[in-house]
Order: sequence, then C-alpha cells, then structure tokens
Amino acid sequence: MNSGGIDSARPATAAIVRHAVFPVAGLGADFLPATKACPKEMLPIIDRPMIQYAVEEAAAAGLTRMIFITGRGKRAIEDHFDSAYELEHELEARADHEALHNLRAAVPPGVTFSYIRQREATGVLGALRMARSLLGTAPFAVVLPDQLFESERPALAQLLDVFAECRSS
Ligand code: UTP
Repeated sequence: MNSGGIDSARPATAAIVRHAVFPVAGLGADFLPATKACPKEMLPIIDRPMIQYAVEEAAAAGLTRMIFITGRGKRAIEDHFDSAYELEHELEARADHEALHNLRAAVPPGVTFSYIRQREATGVLGALRMARSLLGTAPFAVVLPDQLFESERPALAQLLDVFAECRSS
C-alpha cells in the first residue's frame, strides 16, 4: 500500500484508494519452460488464471481502476480482460449459458483497465515507476499477482483498513 506517489513519504490527501497497480512485465524465468509462450500471470490455478484472482481481490476490496504494467509477450493478459465478441457470439448461438456466464465472469463489473508497457524487465520497482503518469499523487495498492493469499477478509481489504486508519504505507 502506498500513501501517494511511489517514492513520496507525504501523507495521502485522498483517503479513498481506487487504484490497484499490477506489475506483470517480469520474465517469469523461474517457471520456464511453462512461461516460454504463456505469461506467468496467466498460468491457471484450478479454474482461472492467477491474474484473475489478483483482480478479483482488488475489486472485492473496492478498487476500481486496475493499472497493469505489461511487457513483451504479455498480450494474453490484455485479451483476458477484454471483451471476446466472437466467442460470446458463438456461445450465444449455441445457447451455452453456463460457458457465457463463466466467460463474462472474468471481468468484475464497474472496473476499468489501463495498460502501460515496461520496455525492459528491470525489476518490480522500475515497473511501478511506470504507473506514475496515471497515478499522480493518488494513493494506490500494489498487487503482485503471483502471491496468493487465502483469508476470510481479503488481504488487500485488511491493508486498506490499516491505510484508512493510519494514512500511510
Ligand atoms: P517476480 O519477482 O516474480 O519476477 O515479479 P518475474 O520476472 O516475474 O519472475 P522470475 O523470478 O523471473 O521467475 C513479481 C511480479 O512483478 C512483475 C512480474 O511480472 C510479477 O508479476 N515484474 C517483475 C515486472 O512487472 N517487471 C519486472 O521487471 C519484474
């Protein structure tokens, strides 16, 4: 959790956190060869890609502006959160309502997605710096999609509770 500006120690002026930043531009070298042609963040855990758990956690915590720092070979992430018109059309024609429901469930309602590219995978901090132009001084959460937490109250919501109380990272 950051209180406003990625390398600023100033207290937040806006108490409500709306932005979640997802760095997804890494090489995923530890998972090769699984990640040679598939982004690490798109590897499935049970019934959905890892990145979807991260976005769902952010949306459940009330964050509505999802900012992805992407890089080479990460197009699948953008496609995953885009509409899939042809597939929807085909499933509608087949009246496959369950599949349609599952397809649409990939995108939580009421959230927006923005993408910035990190041209070289120089590390997570370098990735976060890329978000500055979209964030300004707004407070934001950082979500690493390859860290999954299971808890009754989502981990991110717990961090936001602390931020609301302390107004600091
Ligand atoms: P990791 O530390 O797991 O790095 O990044 P990585 O490159 O993906 O994985 P390995 O170590 O090579 O296997 C944590 C998150 O930060 C992103 C990654 O995509 C991952 O979601 N990241 C990492 C970036 O966005 N940019 C970077 O330069 C490095």
